[in-house]
Amino acid sequence: MALDFEKMDKEYIVNVYHRLDAVLDHGKGSVVYDVNGKEYVDLSAGIAVNIFGICDDVWKDAVIKQLNTLSHISNVFYTEPQVILAKKLCEKTGMKKVFFSNSGAESNECAIKAARKYSHDKYGDGRYTIITLKNSFHGRTMATLTACGQDSLHEDFGPFLDGFVYAEPDNFESVRELAEKHPVCAIMMEMVQGEGGVHPLDKKFVQQVAAYAKAHDILIIVDEVQAGNGRTGALYAYMHYGIQPDIVTTAKAIGGGLPLGATLFADSCQYTLTDHTHGSTFGGNPICAAGAITIIDRIDDELLSEVQKKGDYIKKELESCRNVEGVSGMGLMIGVRLKKDLTEVVNRCIEDGVLVLTANGLLRLLPPLNIPWDILKKGIALVKDVIDE
Ligand SMILES: Cc1ncc(COP(=O)(O)O)c(C=O)c1O
Repeated sequence: MALDFEKMDKEYIVNVYHRLDAVLDHGKGSVVYDVNGKEYVDLSAGIAVNIFGICDDVWKDAVIKQLNTLSHISNVFYTEPQVILAKKLCEKTGMKKVFFSNSGAESNECAIKAARKYSHDKYGDGRYTIITLKNSFHGRTMATLTACGQDSLHEDFGPFLDGFVYAEPDNFESVRELAEKHPVCAIMMEMVQGEGGVHPLDKKFVQQVAAYAKAHDILIIVDEVQAGNGRTGALYAYMHYGIQPDIVTTAKAIGGGLPLGATLFADSCQYTLTDHTHGSTFGGNPICAAGAITIIDRIDDELLSEVQKKGDYIKKELESCRNVEGVSGMGLMIGVRLKKDLTEVVNRCIEDGVLVLTANGLLRLLPPLNIPWDILKKGIALVKDVIDE
């Protein structure tokens, strides 16, 4: 008799995920199958993880090769894949040093610690406040949860960390007011707010904030966990904004489906974290790093230009829907405000064979970056039918 996965999941797994109605079993590229063999077009990519699709061969071969070579060893030793990956990240971004961890939250946790230490080293006690933006999302550890600018996330877990204040996105005066009122060491932003509702920050705002921060020796931390690694049509989303962050955090897509986070440091703070001030057992594990090299190597101009074209296509198609109020986003990070019930649309999409996501009241699409055009067209046609039916 077939196992009742839904019942078992509810019985044995902590019920924090609002599961959608599909027990997924296997997949290849941009297509996934459930345990009954039903096919789905994947417009979710494991929430911006599988940029080259599911079970991508290039990534898989590197992971398997590494698995047969050196699976895990402590970070007290040098390992080749980690060093090669760090060098590639620095060369492609101009950043100077990398700390590897296992997730987005951890990459941000590292950034928060480093920003506070930078300020402490230079100015002594007290200059520890970090400005983040309302509607931001930075993770679910205590520090990163505190950093999130969303009241709904701050209800159950107090007391939160001291030293976080929240500015209005796209309102420079709001940032300046907070910076003048508090002893600020860093300003932390997603260039495209993901979980908060797929909102690209205004370019002028970002540039004003960056200039103010530079003038006051306040570090700029850019959280690229969701928007990074090609998703917006640039290697990292900040590259659209003409700024030079002090710290960049990334995770999700860089690991190709294995857990990997990275915190990148610019000149300004490359020496801040010193012997024993931070660490991770698994961070930059040889298997994750070997896979990640194949991901970073393939985010090239050709892929990025495809991302732009596919993003433009999706926007145009969805904007033509009767029940769409507006489409936001950048590249293949897309939010759709609907004139009809979101839950109903998501459930019908799953029923009709297309995997979609939500973000703060919006339908959210994050397809694999290399999704073939015919599969993309099929998926978008299915979504449009559901929206306008
Ligand atoms: C912008 C951003 N930062 C941080 C995180 C947390 O990443 P993780 O779930 O890997 O800890 C997320 C996750 O969605 C995110 O979108």
